[in-house]
Amino acid sequence: MLRRLVLAAALSLPVAGGAQPPIVIKFSHVVAPDTPKGKAARRFKELVEARSGGRVKVDVYADSQLYKDKEEMEALQLGSVQMLAPSLAKFGPLGVKEFEVFDLPYLFKDTAAFRAVTDGPLGAELLRRLEPKGIKGLAYWDNGFQIMSANRPLHRASDFKGLRMRIQSSKVLDAQMRALGAIPQVMAFSEVRQALQSGLVDGTENVPSNLYTQRVHELQKHMTLSNHGHLAYAVIVNKKFWDGLPADVRDTLEAALKDATTYANAIASDENDLALLAIRASGRTRIYTPTPAEMDEWKKALMPVHKEMETRVGKATIEAAYRATG
Ligand code: LMR
Repeated sequence: MLRRLVLAAALSLPVAGGAQPPIVIKFSHVVAPDTPKGKAARRFKELVEARSGGRVKVDVYADSQLYKDKEEMEALQLGSVQMLAPSLAKFGPLGVKEFEVFDLPYLFKDTAAFRAVTDGPLGAELLRRLEPKGIKGLAYWDNGFQIMSANRPLHRASDFKGLRMRIQSSKVLDAQMRALGAIPQVMAFSEVRQALQSGLVDGTENVPSNLYTQRVHELQKHMTLSNHGHLAYAVIVNKKFWDGLPADVRDTLEAALKDATTYANAIASDENDLALLAIRASGRTRIYTPTPAEMDEWKKALMPVHKEMETRVGKATIEAAYRATG
């Protein structure tokens, strides 16, 4: 008997015969399936299941079906789910405040500047800082630039005065809204639509694909193409689970994630352009492009947030980001 057990363990075979149950990865996220993140998660699932020959199953749970923003981080640490792709603005409560560097207004002039940070030493270092939290960071997925929405036109920085604006759980975003004279309100993504509907908040910021799939345009009369902030994700796994996987399975997962990442980053811009077109076509929301003079005013109001947040995010981290973005 012992000999059989040892042999079975060595060959990774089930002792009592029959097929081994697959390794199951629960991948939880908070957005709609039909968004860049939702599609990339699905692509990852398809690639893994095809390439592992059924050895690994990836169950994707979209739309906060399993957990909301904060709960999903806790669930990952506890091992109730194995994989997430939270926005980079949601790592502060975990104690890795340096991630909030990505929320600094107007830090990235374009997607290439964002990628220069994630693909460089700072991107790698930030993922490493998750390890003491029991989390392994595997990749960054882009989702482009954010716009502002409200029921009043937001042409000038001063138009924000007194507006209650929903934000993600980032102190930099909090400072950003305060710099505009708004009142920031941290709220889970799954609660935003309801909060806008009930009047708990007056407005929000997000990328067009999130605004469209949450049908925010049915509730907000005005959106401004401010491109003031950037939304992106870190694909993360429970470290203990990851370290315990057979090496060849890890290789398969890494290769599939590399391809899913290429896909995620390739579709983000077009998906958001299409969502913006759909919002426009709905006729429910007026979309405004600020004039250069207005943009200068927004920047003047928002750039001091960089200095103000030095103690939160770390001067060295901010400077490393500046160096990477050129
Ligand atoms: C938000 O909370 O607005 C975003 O982080 C949602 C997401 O995951 O895109």
